Amino acid sequence: MEEIQVWGFPTFKYKFENQRKIREEILQNANKQTLDDMSEDWNASCKSTAASREIITMPNFHKELKNIIYEKFSKDINIPSSKMTLKGCSNESCTEECPDYWINVYTKNDHQDVHYHMNEGDKTPLFSFAYFVKYDPEKDAQFYFYNPSPAPNMYEEFTGIRPAFKERMKLDISEGEIIIFPPFMLHGVDKHLSDNTRITVAGNIYR
Ligand SMILES: [Fe+2]
Repeated sequence: MEEIQVWGFPTFKYKFENQRKIREEILQNANKQTLDDMSEDWNASCKSTAASREIITMPNFHKELKNIIYEKFSKDINIPSSKMTLKGCSNESCTEECPDYWINVYTKNDHQDVHYHMNEGDKTPLFSFAYFVKYDPEKDAQFYFYNPSPAPNMYEEFTGIRPAFKERMKLDISEGEIIIFPPFMLHGVDKHLSDNTRITVAGNIYR
């Protein structure tokens, strides 16, 4: 676990233990799922399962995600696991998993503009996450957090002296890692310039 402060807000990073197996599971799933072009729904040019909102069945991924969220993250942030859920539906009596996560596939020149995860449907998430399924940090488009303050304009000529003055903050992320952050944190993905396919699973945790 690594806790990183991004403009004063806590961001957490964990490594999946069964990355190889889970990567295989997600890659197989990405081929079966409906991947829609998101350029109209989002200010982006990637493909995603987000629009179809099919319930994605990825048992290995789901099991490890649950372990990270309920066992590790819950303790590290000091919010009891009883106060958080991966269920996207608001129905307490619902016995389905119905998680709110989606697969994003980036091919050459794709990107995702600055956005946050507030007001997703009828609920605001408690936290949001991005899991890096297939990702080469040397070549693939990087995830960034966007400065919510006027500092980048105000201190334009001094952005080099303080990281907090910069427009974008990038974390050191490797394949197999998940980052968890408050849903109001602005973030995006640079233009993907490599010929590799870059795949992530993004999603939300609720109250
Ligand atoms: Fe996002």
